[in-house]
Amino acid sequence: MARFLIIANWKMNPRTYREAEGLFLAVRKGMQKNNKVGVVICLPLIWLIDFSRKYKSLVAFGAQNVFWETAGAYTGEVSPQMLKSSGVSHVIIGHSERKIYLGETDEMINKKVKAVFVAGLKPILCIGERERSGREVPSIVGEQLKKALEGVKKDKIRNLIVAYEPVWAISTMPGACPDTPDNAFRAAIFIRKVIADLYGLTAAKAVRVIYGGSVSSANTAVFLKEGKMGGALVGGASLDASEFIEIVKVAGRC
Ligand code: PGA
Repeated sequence: MARFLIIANWKMNPRTYREAEGLFLAVRKGMQKNNKVGVVICLPLIWLIDFSRKYKSLVAFGAQNVFWETAGAYTGEVSPQMLKSSGVSHVIIGHSERKIYLGETDEMINKKVKAVFVAGLKPILCIGERERSGREVPSIVGEQLKKALEGVKKDKIRNLIVAYEPVWAISTMPGACPDTPDNAFRAAIFIRKVIADLYGLTAAKAVRVIYGGSVSSANTAVFLKEGKMGGALVGGASLDASEFIEIVKVAGRC
């Protein structure tokens, strides 16, 4: 298992197929084999399947969303099994933008996490407080995590990736700024404590906790080293190929 995981979340970007292919190829060109760092690109579904089939690559492919049923009358949705059979290995679940703009609830997130595990995909579960409030962080994050994991069996937990992503730190939020490595470190300890309470110490140690929110090549090292994070979820900066490549290189040097 790679020591660090750097995950690109392109969100609903870029605007055209041409631009997306250009960005993907530029990123792919800059990737060097490095066992220490795993890279996952989560691009819009419309191109994800195409690229994952077309381009043999050093990077893994992730989706930004999924539905919880296997097949059926669910217009517009895509199942975990469909993603799996198309070469996708990871899925972002519970991103704050889906909660804010699409009304995704804890219950839906929980169903998605369970379905993704059944299909053998790795969930990148996003949790984080909405306001920069300080004291309430552990309880908010703990609640989100517990609800997301309700009914998930212990043997699945080692494939879980938890992205601690304070919503106020996401670069597109008004007044956003990255969290401190100290704070992220504390949140990660708390996340492991919740998992230890639910599944035991071994499971808590095995889970990868990564940080997201205004990650750039300038702050990657502090989050990985001082914050002891297992990687990063990168939004805005992943749309600039050279910046994203630099983030991966920085991780390789940590
Ligand atoms: P950001 O986004 O890196 O642009 O802050 C991160 C995310 O929303 O996943």
